[in-house]
Amino acid sequence: MSSLLRPRRLRVSAGVRQLVRETTLEVGNLVYPLFVVPGNQIRREISSMPGVFHLSPDMAVKEAAEAFSLGIPAVIIFGLPEYKDAEGSSAWDMNSPVQKAMSLIKAALPDIVVIGDVCLCEYTSHGHCGLLKGQEVDNDSTLELLAKTAVSQAQAGADIIAPSDMMDGRILAIRTALNESGYSNVSIMSYAVKYASAYYGPFRDAADSAPQFGDRKSYQMDPANSREAMREVELDIAEGADIIMVKPALVYLDIVRQVRDRFDYPLAVYNVSGEYSMVKAAAAQGWIDEKRTVMETLVSMKRAGADIIITYHAMDAARWLKEE
Ligand code: PBG
Ligand code: ZN
Repeated sequence: MSSLLRPRRLRVSAGVRQLVRETTLEVGNLVYPLFVVPGNQIRREISSMPGVFHLSPDMAVKEAAEAFSLGIPAVIIFGLPEYKDAEGSSAWDMNSPVQKAMSLIKAALPDIVVIGDVCLCEYTSHGHCGLLKGQEVDNDSTLELLAKTAVSQAQAGADIIAPSDMMDGRILAIRTALNESGYSNVSIMSYAVKYASAYYGPFRDAADSAPQFGDRKSYQMDPANSREAMREVELDIAEGADIIMVKPALVYLDIVRQVRDRFDYPLAVYNVSGEYSMVKAAAAQGWIDEKRTVMETLVSMKRAGADIIITYHAMDAARWLKEE
């Protein structure tokens, strides 16, 4: 009896394996993050994230062009501003690197999808994601600054606004501001489920956005919670989010699956900096095979239910997908 049941029959050859494969990773699923800095002709490797670069706006255009030519449909843009203050006012300054890079990229590559990360932590002197009232991050006074930032990015050419701050009510505030400014076709991809995670470590070095005191636990989610994640998604959809994101990806694939099963909205995951740097570090030591590890990681995210994968591996993955 048991000898008649042979699952291995479907693994005997590459052709059979391909026929029965349930999940396919495609280059069209990938989003490549760019870190933009002030200046010209700058392309400096980020030490905590080997293979990822600080780029001046002109060089960000080149990087985006390379990604696009490999078939990657979208970039998400982060910035290191020229100045920081208590409100983070360089976040909505049209002369800041992010806004400059966006308009240059859209001018050179009108068909690439430009996504703008909207948050204040890269722009505030204290490194928190919102306005401070005493030692606390004040929710409601932060909303209008986020909305202003979103509108400035839309004005610079962003196709999608991606708020990552975790203030309550920001989706509605941003949707309203975008509509009032004539950007009703600009989508919102909400970092709806964003955990207070140690996996953001390398990014905070790269973006110079670590909080100067305390942590983000009073606004980002507790890693122990999953039902709360469903409530966050529900709220953001009610407020007008077009795309939902779960972040980080790898240690939250159970959440990805739950969101997929429960909500019929496009779902993105963020394969964050710590996830990336762990793989790069182990691969550099020769302890794991980088290509196989990356491809297995990315397909696991799709299998869990993600449609969109934001990943620093995007360029490599695009090349490897071509080889196959
Ligand atoms: C800004 C922001 C962060 C990331 C994306 N947007 C860092 C944070 O919340 O501290 C993390 C991305 C990564 O680690 O790759 N709020
Ligand atoms: Zn932030």
